[in-house]
Amino acid sequence: MKKIIITIDGYSSCGKSTLAKQLAAKLNYLYIDSGAMYRAITLYFIQQRVDWADIFQVKTALDNIHLEFVHNQLTGQSDMFLNEENVEPMIREMVVAEKVSEVAAIKEVRNFAVAQQQKMGAGRGIVMDGRDIGTVVFPYAELKIFMTADPGIRVQRRFKELYAKNPNITLHEVKENLELRDYIDSNREASPLRKADDAIILDNSNLTMDEQLDLVSQWVEDAIMSHSS
Ligand code: DC
Repeated sequence: MKKIIITIDGYSSCGKSTLAKQLAAKLNYLYIDSGAMYRAITLYFIQQRVDWADIFQVKTALDNIHLEFVHNQLTGQSDMFLNEENVEPMIREMVVAEKVSEVAAIKEVRNFAVAQQQKMGAGRGIVMDGRDIGTVVFPYAELKIFMTADPGIRVQRRFKELYAKNPNITLHEVKENLELRDYIDSNREASPLRKADDAIILDNSNLTMDEQLDLVSQWVEDAIMSHSS
């Protein structure tokens, strides 16, 4: 069967990565979490005290960053490696979440990440989630999904996830972070978050995981059929 490129864009904490992982497993496709790359770059900037207002420092730092996804036998997922170190748990922490939108808005950072994402997808048979995958990274993808969900539901989902790792986190903190990230991601100059004209909107506020997967699996079948001739 023909292998396609599936892009999943949308706001923070809509469940993009959950859906992307399920689809990739079901179709035997490669899953790429583009947000992990921006998170790893942000972690490097924080650790190395890079002043990202200074473009010279940004360029020098990018020259010293090597990103790689490495398959984890235990979890069956891909872990993000930054300069040969597994940074998977660290990049999900609040210190990174608080800064990642700022770093991801820098044009040089985006060019650096997008070039690598395009290389990874060259072979097709991939599901990639992010903010600009259907608009900038793979504008010619066969299936583009734009995910959204009620903001209150998104805050609750994210809170649950973070609280499990850090019981000191408050609902207010999570809400503020999501709102700020959505604002910066949607309003930045360099490839802002927006729905591609040919993307299908998926509002999963009232869908179970199974309903969502069934619905999207049908879209995948349709996309493969219509691009097979
Ligand atoms: O998907 P995520 O929450 O892990 O993404 C982290 C941040 O990275 C998000 O706030 C915006 C940025 N990002 C981006 O600008 N472009 C992408 N393709 C993916 C993520």
